[in-house]
Amino acid sequence: MDSEKLFLPVPDLKLSDLLDWQKEDERQHRHLVHRNTTELSVTLDSHHPHKKCFGNSVTINDETVALFRIGEEVYATQAKCPHAGGPLYLADLEELVPGQVCLKCPWHKWTFSIDNGRSIKPAGRGLVAKTYPVKVNREGNIYIGFDSFGPSAFEI
Ligand code: FES
Repeated sequence: MDSEKLFLPVPDLKLSDLLDWQKEDERQHRHLVHRNTTELSVTLDSHHPHKKCFGNSVTINDETVALFRIGEEVYATQAKCPHAGGPLYLADLEELVPGQVCLKCPWHKWTFSIDNGRSIKPAGRGLVAKTYPVKVNREGNIYIGFDSFGPSAFEI
């Protein structure tokens, strides 16, 4: 339950900093991503006029989390793809069926539900990207829910 989660503020990033997938003009900001061999490393197509993407990656509470905005809602998943470690935070967003928005990983194009992280395509693989509850306050500050503090909180 969300009430049992520990909600921690995302520093230096507000709702208004995230591209909104619901806005058609902001959807044009998808960029082209080339896969590198290193984890979470990509090369943006330098000839592409738009360098921004929907997702943002933040490190908080010892975890790297991807944030995506749809309207006034923010969704959070693990930043690395559960398939092979690709940069899920650079995923494209797609509505595979009406009302079901998915993340499409730039590496092998697997799709994951943005709501619960379950893999949708290819079917039957049963992989799940970790998701986090998110709260946004009136000022647009974003809070991510964790089960507990990360290990670094206890370092002296
Ligand atoms: S690493 Fe994401 S689909 Fe393979």
